[in-house]
Amino acid sequence: MKTVNTQVEYAGLKLKNPIVIASSGLTDSVHKIEVLENSGAAAVVLKSIYEEQIMMNIRKEAPEEEIDKVNIADIISKFISEDHLDNYTSFIRECKTKISIPVIASINCHTVREWTSYAKMLEKAGADAIELNVMLINTEKEYLYGKVEETNIEILKQVKKDVKIPVIMKIGREFTNIINLINRLQKNKADGIVMFNKSYRNEVDLEEESLIPGAHISDKSVFTGNLKWVSIASSLVPGADIAISGAVYDGENIIKAILCGAKVTEICSTIYKNGPDYIPHLLSFMTDWMQSHNYETIEQFRGKLNSSIIEDENLYERIQFMKHYSSNNVQPKEV
Ligand SMILES: Cc1cc2nc3c(=O)[nH]c(=O)nc-3n(C[C@H](O)[C@H](O)[C@H](O)COP(=O)(O)O)c2cc1C
Repeated sequence: MKTVNTQVEYAGLKLKNPIVIASSGLTDSVHKIEVLENSGAAAVVLKSIYEEQIMMNIRKEAPEEEIDKVNIADIISKFISEDHLDNYTSFIRECKTKISIPVIASINCHTVREWTSYAKMLEKAGADAIELNVMLINTEKEYLYGKVEETNIEILKQVKKDVKIPVIMKIGREFTNIINLINRLQKNKADGIVMFNKSYRNEVDLEEESLIPGAHISDKSVFTGNLKWVSIASSLVPGADIAISGAVYDGENIIKAILCGAKVTEICSTIYKNGPDYIPHLLSFMTDWMQSHNYETIEQFRGKLNSSIIEDENLYERIQFMKHYSSNNVQPKEV
């Protein structure tokens, strides 16, 4: 039987396999990360720090109207010794002394503001890469098309100016043209693209008639929707290093994501549900599947089923829709 090599190169990082633990409460302590590493995870994305937290500290040090006149990097480094910005860099430093797998710092952001200088501190603390979770919902009634896309690109450019480590963009899915955005991010040297971030979901409590948070854990159906876009992005922007994130629940999903062009999978809900002990099962499913399909490396099958096998994506989608939903294949429950 052939031995299989599960190594992948993602965003300039050499990973022993395609399992990355997504930014969440799973990665908010060194101890939890040690357990994940021992279970076989290839890298971790730390729980995010928020742009608002960084800006709050900048504003405390210099009032809003003064911000443009002062050196923000100086303010941050001065302030950093006192509060949670410091905690975050200390956390990275501690991770780097105890953890061998790559540690990716994460900033949740939505504007191009002075907070971008903080990225330098994360690099200095030893982060192997930075993931920027650009999270903004656009509700402007008078909207100039492309403005949100520009914000994503400007954030990337600003951070890239300040750091040498890889910068990964975790983007939302609600764009007029995701492929165009990914293409532009790649042209502006994004080292990786995570498809997609998780937006906050509303639920309604019917008894209390109030809004409540939706489930934290992803619905399984999210995966196939993401898979479609990964498949298209992998074909049309072949240079982009894509991570899929969203309801990657099992080994089958990992293989499917790679076949459709993902370099790595960022997993979260499945570990909340099944615990870190589930990682060895994911890995053994992967290696068994590779062996039974005669693959020795991930690159031998990555992207094999991306949408380059489809001549016209739009036509394909319309035909599939017609085939599946305009026929009598789908029957309602008999009454
Ligand atoms: C409890 C919880 C906390 C999360 N916190 C963050 C965070 O701080 N930053 C971030 O970028 N994503 C965060 N996420 C989103 C995950 O990183 C991931 O993208 C998302 O959950 C989809 O993956 P999954 O379906 O495997 O859970 C969080 C998710 C959960 C469930």
